[in-house]
Parts: sequence; C-alpha cells; structure tokens
Amino acid sequence: MKKKIALISGITGQDGSYLAEFLLKKNYIVHGIKRKSSSFNTERVDHIYENYQKSKNFYLHYGDLIDSNSLFNLVHKIKPDEIYNLGAQSHVGHSFEIPEYTSEVTGIGTLRFLEAIRFLNLKKTKFYQASTSELFGQKDKRNVFSERSNLVPKSPYGVSKLYSYWITKLYREAYGIFACNGILFNHESPRRGETFVTRKITMFLAKKYFGSKEVLKLGNINAKRDWGHAKDYVELQWKMLQKKTPTDYVIATGKSYSVKEFINFCCNYLKFKIIWKGSGLNTKCFLIKSDGSKELLIKIDKKYYRPVDID
Ligand code: NAP
Ligand code: GDD
Repeated sequence: MKKKIALISGITGQDGSYLAEFLLKKNYIVHGIKRKSSSFNTERVDHIYENYQKSKNFYLHYGDLIDSNSLFNLVHKIKPDEIYNLGAQSHVGHSFEIPEYTSEVTGIGTLRFLEAIRFLNLKKTKFYQASTSELFGQKDKRNVFSERSNLVPKSPYGVSKLYSYWITKLYREAYGIFACNGILFNHESPRRGETFVTRKITMFLAKKYFGSKEVLKLGNINAKRDWGHAKDYVELQWKMLQKKTPTDYVIATGKSYSVKEFINFCCNYLKFKIIWKGSGLNTKCFLIKSDGSKELLIKIDKKYYRPVDID
C-alpha cells in the first residue's frame, strides 16, 4: 500500500517533533520545514533524523512561513496528503514586542499554505491549522469554552491566530479544501520551550535542587491555564484529519490551575518546604531550609506581565 505523505511546518518545535514521531510510527513519509538559523535548531528532531533518514521516510527542508516561494515549491514538489501547519511565532508575551513579525508568520503564513493548495489544485491534500485557546481571550460567564464561543483575542499572537482561524474556515467553505482548526489549550512536555512558564519553573527548580543560588522572576502567577500533554494532543491533530468531513475542534483537559498552584505542586514533588508572602507585585516565595532559615526562591517582575494578562 502506498505510504501517506505528511508535510509539517514547525517540525523543530515541541509539537512538530512529537507529531513526526507519531506519523512515522504510523508508517507515513514525513517531510518537515526547518527555517534557516545561524545556530543549530534541530535538537528536537535530530534523533528522528538519525533513525529514519536512511529508510527514506524522513526529510528536512529549508523554508519559512514568511517566504511564499519556499512553501509553494515544497507543496508542489512533495504533494503531501496532509499538511500540518504548526509553525508560528508562538510566544504570546513576545508577540507584544514583535507584533508585525508575529502577524506575518502566525497569521499570513497560513494563507501562504492555503494559497499553494488552492493554486496547485491539490484536491486530496488535507490541512491542519494549529489554532489556539488564545482566540477566546476572555472568560465567558460560565468560564466554559466551546467551538461556538466568542473569539476575542487579547494579544498580537491571538489576533494573528484569529486571522489564520478564519482564513482556514474560509478556504474550506469557498474552495472545498479539507481544512481543520484544532483549537488547543496549553500543552506541555519535557520538549516545551524554556521561556514558557511550566518549563521556566521546572528548569529553575531542578537547578535549585542541585544547589543553584538563583532567584526566579515571574509575571502573573494568578493566571490560570488548562495544561495537557503535547504527546496526547498531536494524536488528536492527526485524528482531526482522519474524519470524514472537516470541521474545527476544541481540545482541553477541562481542568485549569493557576501558575501558583503549579509551583506549589512542583515544590511538593521535590519535597521543598515553601512559604508565600505579600501580594500583587510584592509577592515573594521563600524556601524553608533544614535549619529553619529562609531563602528567597521566587519574586514578581513586572517585565513578565503582559499588557493584557488574562487570569
Ligand atoms: P514551538 O515549540 O514554539 O514551535 C514553533 C515552531 O515554529 C518551531 O519549529 C519554529 O522554528 C517554527 N517557526 C517559527 N517561526 C517560523 C517561521 N518564520 N517559518 C517557519 N517556521 C517557524 O510551538 P509548539 O508548542 O510546538 O506549538 C505548535 C503550534 O501550535 C504553534 O503554532 C502554536 O502557536 C500552536 N499552539 C500551541 C499550544 C501549546 O500549548 N503548545 C497551544 C495552542 C496552539 P524554530 O525551532 O527555528 O524556532
Ligand atoms: N512565559 C511566561 N513567563 N509566562 C508567565 C510568567 C513568566 O515569567 N509568569 C507568569 N506567566 C503566565 C503568563 O502570563 C500566562 O498567563 C501563563 O503564565 C502561561 O504562559 P506561557 O507558558 O507563556 O503560555 P501561554 O498560555 O501564554 O501561551 C501558550 O499557550 C497558548 C494556548 O493557550 C503558547 O504555547 C501559545 O502558543 C498557545 O497558543
């Protein structure tokens, strides 16, 4: 039987690397897009390259979501059965500092892929768009979100993803492209980028466990998130493209916790005794040492608050 062919943008990221592993196990041929960088950026997929490149099941190509030609040429050459658009400037906080770049990559990048499928008349190519719970932006009265909730993003990242969401829907309706939005809540793993809050905290606490003297600076620790595991969520991305008809899906665990609760959980796991003092910007967390003395562990730094921070 002919092997299915997948093309993944953002293959060097958390989800891209797990999705590549998942699809290779399902006997797909996987092509990934990596962007040009002056330093190594394939750490998350190097092990896959070593295992699958010889069997001609795994390929990496240079390309960029802001470069139409590279995307068009790859789609033309590979003619994938499935495209997973996971590439993005994916950091919400950073999107306030680089809003135009974020819009180009995270917003218009999606259009570039859809136009390639449309222009090349690839009737059998299915398209997955990595949409996000950041589309919702704000709580509704019941704090329950669904595929029918209002979309009111609160960051340049969220606004860019909103464009991608609508253009994906539009190309599905206008041109009959099999295109799905996966509206995913946060999902984490040991491969999560180190500037996202879960990894920032766990990396810091691991170093502290081994004697580091650093103090962790955080933003809004009262913010709540619904955290799942990336490995589970990439399987659902694939499942969406295996359905008979394309539509959009929200993926979440249904349980949310604050950043502070996450810290308490991690400290408990490491058997760190901690105490919280103060409130707001003056909140501090201290580690109680075996001799009863206190060491400053965490403090709040305004720098890590977002202009619109959603609890
Ligand atoms: P990630 O680890 O930040 O990976 C992002 C990927 O996009 C990386 O491979 C990155 O390449 C690539 N990329 C960045 N700019 C690019 C450009 N201009 N052209 C081509 N590729 C580019 O993100 P993730 O956590 O795996 O998330 C995957 C997708 O799901 C993203 O679109 C994200 O916005 C979305 N999403 C994530 C979550 C979550 O909780 N993880 C939730 C909802 C939606 P480099 O490695 O070179 O930086
Ligand atoms: N990054 C970071 N750094 N976040 C902090 C910090 C800090 O020092 N202190 C508090 N936070 C809070 C943020 O304000 C946010 O409310 C929460 O921790 C989670 O932040 P991130 O881990 O950066 O993730 P995110 O929720 O903003 O965005 C991630 O999930 C989205 C889905 O909801 C990203 O993966 C997005 O790409 C994704 O769409």
